[in-house]
Amino acid sequence: MRFSPSFLQDIRDRIPIADIVGRRVTFDRKKSNQSKGDYWACCPFHGEKSPSFHCENAKGRYHCFGCGVSGDHFRFLTELDGLSFPEAVERLADEAGVAMPAFDPQMAEREKKKASLYEVMELASQFFQQQLQSPDGAKARAYLRDRGLSPAVQNEFGMGYAPSSRSALKEYLGSKNIDKDQIEACGLVVFGPDIAVSYDRFRDRIMFPILDARSRCIAFGGRALSADVPAKYLNSPETELFSKSNVLYNYAKARQAVEREGSLVVAEGYMDVIAMAAAGFHNAVAPLGTALTEMQLELAWRVGGEPVLCFDGDEAGMRAANRSIDTALAGLKPGRSLRFALLPEGQDPDDLISDAGPEAFREVLDSARPLADMLWVRETGGRTFDTPERRAELERNIFAVLSRIGEENVKRHYQQDMRERLQAFFGSGPNNGNRRSDTPRDGNRTGTARGRGDGSQKRLAVSESLMNSSVVKKRTNLPALRETALVVTAINHPLIGQSNFDDLAALAIEHPVLKAVHSAVLDFFAICGEGETAPSIDAIIAFVSQQGLAPQLEMLFAQVRHNRIWQAMAEAAYEDALDGWEQAFVLHQRSHALHSELKEAERAFNELGDERSFDRLVILKRELANEEGTEALIEGFGKSSGRPQQGF
Ligand code: UTP
Ligand code: MN
Repeated sequence: MRFSPSFLQDIRDRIPIADIVGRRVTFDRKKSNQSKGDYWACCPFHGEKSPSFHCENAKGRYHCFGCGVSGDHFRFLTELDGLSFPEAVERLADEAGVAMPAFDPQMAEREKKKASLYEVMELASQFFQQQLQSPDGAKARAYLRDRGLSPAVQNEFGMGYAPSSRSALKEYLGSKNIDKDQIEACGLVVFGPDIAVSYDRFRDRIMFPILDARSRCIAFGGRALSADVPAKYLNSPETELFSKSNVLYNYAKARQAVEREGSLVVAEGYMDVIAMAAAGFHNAVAPLGTALTEMQLELAWRVGGEPVLCFDGDEAGMRAANRSIDTALAGLKPGRSLRFALLPEGQDPDDLISDAGPEAFREVLDSARPLADMLWVRETGGRTFDTPERRAELERNIFAVLSRIGEENVKRHYQQDMRERLQAFFGSGPNNGNRRSDTPRDGNRTGTARGRGDGSQKRLAVSESLMNSSVVKKRTNLPALRETALVVTAINHPLIGQSNFDDLAALAIEHPVLKAVHSAVLDFFAICGEGETAPSIDAIIAFVSQQGLAPQLEMLFAQVRHNRIWQAMAEAAYEDALDGWEQAFVLHQRSHALHSELKEAERAFNELGDERSFDRLVILKRELANEEGTEALIEGFGKSSGRPQQGF
């Protein structure tokens, strides 16, 4: 039914929007200005503790400054209560005392037809459910039982079984006086000019009803029971009710669950959603066999500001995650983003829950990475930036990606964030003790990046002073290069890590990133024990990544690559790597001991204040200065049998 703009405006004018909104939220008395018809509340579309949801009677609109939703009277009802637009109009027209416009028979006919299609789908859904309980459904019931899905869960998701017949559903619907046209319009049969007799689309499959936001059945997904059919999963075709790129599986229920707790989780498939629900996570949805579309993302954002996207930790999963980054950029708003949970390689949520339990899955969700991290890893991962041209290219690529962010403030913050990452990465900040720009090989890189007077340099200078602020410092400061090199060597040369386990464990590490990876590596070697053969590099990396530390690991690898510590790399000969490791370890111990001594000397000097303790302090500081920095590091990593010092 089409409504004229003046008719709709009439309704808006008669009902203050605060009346409608006020039924679903409690207005914040202090922040609101009642006399002006200006109200604030906690947003009903996303969870929040302080009110950023605003509505104003004069404008007849609402807007949330947190999640970005906005709209008018009708939109509020369609989005929050799941009413259809005509329903919202009818309800408010009634309330406002405005007569509904004259009846449009053509429109009404279409509406009626659509309404009847929902009924057909509902009948089909009931049929499939009955079949699952019938003797014909024995195999399907056994399959579901084997996958650990209880009858309660099957029931919750309305799961059914389509029998191995070309006409069972068709006949059933016929017996209920459903027209051939309607069955076809629902996509339940395969038909066409070349097909003499239409036949049931879904045969010998486990059936998942796909419900819309108002929990009406609009389509089906079917999983093949036998392995030798072309498609493991088959969806309903596009119909008047169903457009697969606009629908998320389990949306209505997940939305309710999110209102109770947590944020929306987007998994890959039906079975993931169902396995998650069975394990107590009711807040999951899935697209229907395609990559997440813009519309689906929009639906996800409507539920809350930061949905968590789950991806398999393998290459295909990373590709899918990267694609989602691109889909998301244009739609980012203040408070509206995504997080990425990377699962262990080759596992979907369903696998992980059944192998490792709900707790393991919870941990994966909790360690989900922000979009900015994922973007950074995507642009930098697995590459070296050892020439100015490559670094410039990286910078250009990153800023080209950022230009696709639609919202100006978000874009500005991303640009700032990436600039800081680039600087920390290329070590031009004065904080990076081990990347001193006064060493010859650094000179042509950082030397030019700082201090010159043109505009771009000024921007860098601003960023640099920001990096000095205590807020940013912690995050952007890199771990000490020598310690990073030690840990990376142990990963790239597992035999070294394994046979020097005690020394590896004794490393004193302060930097949180390196510390986390170091302890994961220790765990790994501890689990492996001292076997006959050394574990593979891939196994270590997989293990560390499983702890949600893939980006951290990548950062450490990048640090080593960038500083060309070739002895720490996998390509280095074992003897060279061991040589580097041993020397660096000795230096580490010595400097660690010196640091402790220095602390002690400082304490003594503060206490006694005499000349002797002062001299000791001076000597120690000088020694330490000699020990630290690039020189000492090169002594440990770089001298080698036959390789040039900066071989990388
Ligand atoms: P997967 O192949 O990962 O299946 O496809 P799954 O979810 O692990 O299912 P099980 O555990 O083998 O039962 C993920 C999603 O991709 C779509 C489906 O939506 C599926 O849930 N898909 C997959 C298809 O649409 N067609 C296919 O042939 C396969
Ligand atoms: Mn699976």
